[in-house]
Amino acid sequence: MILVAGGAGYIGSHAVIELYNKGYDVLIADNFSNSSPSVLDKLELITGKRFDHITVDLCDLEELKKRTKEYKLSGVIHFAAYKSVGESVSNPLKYYANNLQSLVNSLKLCKERDIRNFVFSSSCTVYGNPNQIPVTEKSKIGKAESPYGKSKVISEEIIQDYHHTHPISICNLRYFNPIGAHESGLIGDYPDGKPNNLLPFVTQVAAGVRDTLSVFGDDYDTHDGTCLRDYIHVVDLAKAHVNAIEYNVKNEGKHSIFNLGTGKGVSVLDLIKTFEKVNNVPINYEIVSRRPGDVEAIFADCHKAKTDLNWIAELNLSKMLTSAWKFQQNILK
Ligand code: UD1
Repeated sequence: MILVAGGAGYIGSHAVIELYNKGYDVLIADNFSNSSPSVLDKLELITGKRFDHITVDLCDLEELKKRTKEYKLSGVIHFAAYKSVGESVSNPLKYYANNLQSLVNSLKLCKERDIRNFVFSSSCTVYGNPNQIPVTEKSKIGKAESPYGKSKVISEEIIQDYHHTHPISICNLRYFNPIGAHESGLIGDYPDGKPNNLLPFVTQVAAGVRDTLSVFGDDYDTHDGTCLRDYIHVVDLAKAHVNAIEYNVKNEGKHSIFNLGTGKGVSVLDLIKTFEKVNNVPINYEIVSRRPGDVEAIFADCHKAKTDLNWIAELNLSKMLTSAWKFQQNILK
């Protein structure tokens, strides 16, 4: 059985489905701090299975140990973390306390229960503002601009140090920009309050929940002046976690790092225009000044994931944008 810490969250819930599709038993652990228990119902509607779940704060080690005791765990996928860059700047201690303690506790659980298969949610944010794109796993770790970003850099260091003394199998997955939703339209990215990330903002403007999208800067050194990102469908990303679990079984004791993206740089305006076209809905937007801390351009070199994990992103930008729009429309029903 695989423990999915943060399994009710945006990426975690999609990973639960892909694990289930490949025949894995799953135990979801979540405190629903940034997700809803209704996700468990949605997962049941999608798969026909009611997943085992425990409501637990990963920062509470004793509770985590107690609540997982009865389950035979062979692996842990650790998603449980806060992810708002802006909030991390205004409340850094909240981010360090939660994101680091929950990771330490997941590793302590592995140690105590002799679980030797660990997958961690990292981020391309660890590359900071890269000197060269695309970035490979060997690219230099950059200067993280936010406590959120720093919490990912420190988390990777914690994992590396742990692996030094306890050489279990570990995959450290560096996500680029996950967007989109499950094809059912039942689960997706559902931010609490005003969205920080681009696509949830776009879908809310499309739905009339918000008036105008602010495009942060059009004077970058890119083809249309707006920032470039590597947007990846959350379902593709979720599938990579199953490959990582399998890779860990075959590569006992190895600590590996993988970029997960499509390898394509898409600008903010490219994304808006494609959204309008594939969904046939206009987006009201205005160009405003740059957002502090934004990286001009980043996209992934994903060769390592292809060769070693036997994984590539299969779903294109249109699929990402139509699925996200379907999910947004379902929220309003
Ligand atoms: C950042 C991190 C990513 C992290 C994510 C968590 C980097 C390179 N990426 O993503 O690792 O997982 O935060 O939230 O550090 N934009 C607008 N208007 C908006 C919102 C965004 O123009 O209202 C633009 C941004 O300027 C950026 C692009 O859209 O160019 C994507 O922004 P966003 O979705 O917030 O993701 P990142 O900042 O790339």
